[in-house]
Amino acid sequence: MKLSVIGTGYLGATHAAAMASLGHEVLGVDVDAAKVAMLQSGTVPFHEPGLPELLADQVASGRLRFTTDAAEAGAHADVHFVCVGTPQRKGEYAADLRYVDAAMAALVPHLRAGSLVVGKSTVPVGTAARLLEQVEAADADLVWNPEFLREGFAVEDTLRPDRIVIGATSERAAKTLLDVYESMVTAGTPVISTDLATAELVKVAANSFLATKISFINAMAEVCEATGADITSLAEAIGHDARIGHRFLRAGLGFGGGCLPKDIRAFMARAGELGVDQALSFLKEVDSINQRRRARTVDLAREMCGGSLAGMRVCVLGAAFKPDSDDIRDSPALDVALSCQQQGAAVRVYDPYAMDNARTSFPTLAYADSAVDAAVDADVVLHLTEWREFAELHPAELSAVVRERRIVDGRNTLDRELWTREGWTHRALGRQSL
Ligand code: UDX
Repeated sequence: MKLSVIGTGYLGATHAAAMASLGHEVLGVDVDAAKVAMLQSGTVPFHEPGLPELLADQVASGRLRFTTDAAEAGAHADVHFVCVGTPQRKGEYAADLRYVDAAMAALVPHLRAGSLVVGKSTVPVGTAARLLEQVEAADADLVWNPEFLREGFAVEDTLRPDRIVIGATSERAAKTLLDVYESMVTAGTPVISTDLATAELVKVAANSFLATKISFINAMAEVCEATGADITSLAEAIGHDARIGHRFLRAGLGFGGGCLPKDIRAFMARAGELGVDQALSFLKEVDSINQRRRARTVDLAREMCGGSLAGMRVCVLGAAFKPDSDDIRDSPALDVALSCQQQGAAVRVYDPYAMDNARTSFPTLAYADSAVDAAVDADVVLHLTEWREFAELHPAELSAVVRERRIVDGRNTLDRELWTREGWTHRALGRQSL
């Protein structure tokens, strides 16, 4: 089928390459000419495992092309996927819909009668109903089809999703989208057909649940800290209950990134507009627990340094909001690094992939070329993003260069026994020192 994908960020670029790999002819559209040129040359402008190979193959096959021209998309495709970002508005909780509105304004005048627009962006409930009027005026259809892909697993999540959710007002429109996804449907992927509002809500409800699960275990970590209990044993024990499960029960520095924080805030803002703010007031607490973990990590570092970070050298391991990503949006690691700096510490950061993004956004922090380099003369080492490289790092490598053997494990993934045996004072969120 002939498809267009509007917005080639990490969702759109992955979706475009994945759809081409299913045999469709795909045109990716973006207003950013530099990004389009890069993608057209087969290069991915961000770190996503597996995507560079997939994209290069599909561009070489001729099934995948990129353009800045929305009119070309209208002429090329029968199905258009809207994959632009919906960031948090500055100084507010609500989502900024300017990119969705701009994408629709550029596309709608060029829609062929009978074509289908598929919304994939995460939007406040009610947005699709508003856009439906514009699309119907062009004699086209609109469905909402949220995505659930995780950064670091974007290709896998796009090609083998847990479920396909389609919000539609007509069976014909839903059927067209199912034709696009035919191979996934044949492979047995569950399909949930529903209305527009439910489809929009599924996405924010799922992310709210995940955020709540993380903040729940982090709240338990706070209680563990006050009682001498151990959060990792507690999480393991409750996770064995199949109704609870172990996933998303890793206590530590909490969640960040371009989705969970802004999605729960936009959901609260929308609930307020709908007069059901009380229903989501618990999300405010979810957000607060999450922010408190960042402050607690800085407190731990300060306590270990004798009560003040002024003049201390702090080594920060990690800048990305999670491993296998170079995304630093709302990164807990960089938030902690900046707080330490604000308290007078000299901070040096190392991350395997996110250095360029971190340097550009936070030029006042110092950066090192390796974990060992970042640790030279450090008074305390903070492990804030759980890259495999850090778990595999032997403490002896850092012992040789640091001023003091002190480490805070903000992700509870380092071998506490090993670090302690090597003479380090090890502190972690929700756990006691040995
Ligand atoms: C999330 C959702 O998982 C995905 O379905 C949605 O489409 C987009 O938002 P993503 O932002 O890529 O995906 O990251 P995710 O893997 O969910 O992790 C989010 C944050 O939670 C990270 O900062 C991670 O470190 C943190 N996290 C995750 C924890 O602190 N503990 C956990 O147990 C799990």
